[in-house]
Amino acid sequence: MTARIIDGKAVAASLRAELATRVAGLGFRPGLTVILVGDDPASAVYVRSKDRAAKEAGIEATTIRLPADTAERALLAEIARLNADPAVDGILVQLPLPPQIDPNRVIAAIDPAKDVDGFHPVNVGALANGQPGLVPCTPAGTMKLLAYAGVKLAGARAIVLGRSAIVGRPVAALLLAADATVTIAHSRTRDLPAECRRADVVIAAVGRPEMVRGDWIAPGATVIDVGINRLPDGRLVGDVAYAECLAHAGAITPVPGGVGPMTIACLLENTVEAAVRRRGVTG
Ligand code: GUN
Repeated sequence: MTARIIDGKAVAASLRAELATRVAGLGFRPGLTVILVGDDPASAVYVRSKDRAAKEAGIEATTIRLPADTAERALLAEIARLNADPAVDGILVQLPLPPQIDPNRVIAAIDPAKDVDGFHPVNVGALANGQPGLVPCTPAGTMKLLAYAGVKLAGARAIVLGRSAIVGRPVAALLLAADATVTIAHSRTRDLPAECRRADVVIAAVGRPEMVRGDWIAPGATVIDVGINRLPDGRLVGDVAYAECLAHAGAITPVPGGVGPMTIACLLENTVEAAVRRRGVTG
């Protein structure tokens, strides 16, 4: 069997086009401010992509670049200013932050209604309780790809590899909300290959290049690869050994071109949702 390839780039492009149409009909431009502290090269690339995609969708995007030695209180003051600015619908502080800044304090300072990353404890709590809120972008994008691929989640066995706050935990909560039977595996899980082989849906979010091997995948299972790892030879690979898993899976996401493009599309969707909810408009 050769798996169907889930084309995240195409799904993201159609979501972005839908959002641009929705924004054009709003009668105002939703505002997104991204804050980048320091000069981490990977973060700079992500922030530029977010800014460009937001502008293409008709969102008023602003990037604030602060030096690497910015004091925590200066960043908190900037966030307080953005919280109070009615033109700002979404605030995103790019992670990681320099060591003198506590990311938890920073995230907690963002108005939960403007927290388009879905990282604020109020939004984390809402997701854990199955209540409405802003959902983290990569997990939201993962769920959209599963829906696009026509994967039935009710009653399915899903395994999430990784328990990070950004991906593993929230995607497990979303799978549970979709009535899957969810296992969260991590570095202390015993016999991970056997756990994987029981799953109808495998979500890999561990940050280890090509860790998931072909013989871990049940015939016909769906494999979503959230990992993006740069190998010493410059190649970009996921957490899944793609060529091997392609031979076992029913459907699989590539890297690049799978979950990655969905993350930005979902950030734009969160920004539009935050704008519509905060401003009490429909559209
Ligand atoms: N750094 C890596 N991924 C993310 C993300 O989803 N949001 C933010 N703010 N920073 C990140």
